[in-house]
Amino acid sequence: MNLTAKNWILVVGARPNFMKIAPLIRAIDKYNNASLSPLVTIHYLLVHTGQHYDASMSDAFFRDLRLPEPDLHLGVGSGNHGEQTGKVLIEFEKVLLKEQPDLVIVVGDVNSTLACALAAVKLQIRVAHVEAGLRSFDRRMPEEINRLLTDAVSDYLFTPSPEGDENLSKEGIPSEKVFLVGDIMVDSLLYHLDQAKKTNILARLGLSNALTSCLQIRSADDGLQSGVLPYALMTLHRPANVDDKPALERIMRGLLEVSADFPILFPVHPRTAKQIKAFGMESSFQFHSSADIKPQDYFEGKALKRRIHCFEPMGYLDFLNLMVHAKVVLTDSGGIQEETTVLNIPCITLRDTTERPITLTEGTNVLVHNDPEKIVAEVKKVRDGQRRQSQCPSLWDGHTAERVVAILVKHG
Ligand code: UD1
Repeated sequence: MNLTAKNWILVVGARPNFMKIAPLIRAIDKYNNASLSPLVTIHYLLVHTGQHYDASMSDAFFRDLRLPEPDLHLGVGSGNHGEQTGKVLIEFEKVLLKEQPDLVIVVGDVNSTLACALAAVKLQIRVAHVEAGLRSFDRRMPEEINRLLTDAVSDYLFTPSPEGDENLSKEGIPSEKVFLVGDIMVDSLLYHLDQAKKTNILARLGLSNALTSCLQIRSADDGLQSGVLPYALMTLHRPANVDDKPALERIMRGLLEVSADFPILFPVHPRTAKQIKAFGMESSFQFHSSADIKPQDYFEGKALKRRIHCFEPMGYLDFLNLMVHAKVVLTDSGGIQEETTVLNIPCITLRDTTERPITLTEGTNVLVHNDPEKIVAEVKKVRDGQRRQSQCPSLWDGHTAERVVAILVKHG
């Protein structure tokens, strides 16, 4: 006999949301199908705000993560912060008034996260925030404002690590609202890891297989392992790095030196692509459509002058496979700092703060800001085998979403 139905709305908006919602959907489906829980059924709607809309920033992730089609798409698109946040607020409020859910679940720290939390709380609908409590203490970052305000209005705050609980406690958030559950991104990572390793991205980029003969010749010099050419993987999209020409030029100085050791593979975010063009910096990069790197380019000097190889943004599985095999990852993303910690891959973060300090203390992460000398020095450490090893933080075990669902069913 089914006594209670719960009506939840799950929100996604931008690329880093998708891998945090996918495990929740799996956990809800698992809960509904479990014979132990016949008294409660969870009905849910998946709402996509449309903050990210390019196929490579959104559709590819739905496919790779096997997310269901969104039940509702708000089609909000890009804009200044106020405009984008405001549009989501207006459109999501209409959804809430029509659907009257018991609970809205938001994840992460993007503009859609804050806008949907705010729309819900104003209608006295309870809000659960997954990935609560992270703080960079840098209010110049739009995400920091989103984190602070989302946490301030949420009813259930799910933290990935103990610093999150401490931050929330200092902000006066009652401990009854806070639940340490682990890192939900790690659920996606562990769930998809084997599948990711089977994608053919390494061969497509000429980093394995086709290279066998070259690799055999060079393996003694390069310390090649498992037949994969050594490379650095990079992502860069923070406004502080890519909207500011002097900052980007400083980073470039470091990168060009690094690329003498390792070719740098760089899937480029649309914001960054626009800025590279606007600053007239295209000549420092080698742009590729995804499949046209030829292995011999690495060796015949064609690519040697410009060894920062740019691609369209990659899907989740291809990027994960590239991360697994990278010698080193350079990034200004938040999530990648966590993923490299779990994978035990060296991570050099092109920022001066992190909202994920556990990746510094327990993981492989190091902060270098936009300092070219530090960038080069840290890559040299990796090259010289002086890399840090990580230990996986507690509760980053692939079961965070199940804990979230169990808590929400019990308390909600
Ligand atoms: C957003 C998040 C950031 C996250 C990043 C991951 C906020 C405040 N920022 O930043 O935390 O790390 O997503 O990607 O929410 N664009 C496209 N196609 C798209 C999406 C964006 O061309 O599908 C271009 C547009 O010109 C847009 C710009 O990229 O103006 C920036 O997009 P936006 O969603 O505003 O912020 P992100 O930099 O992507």
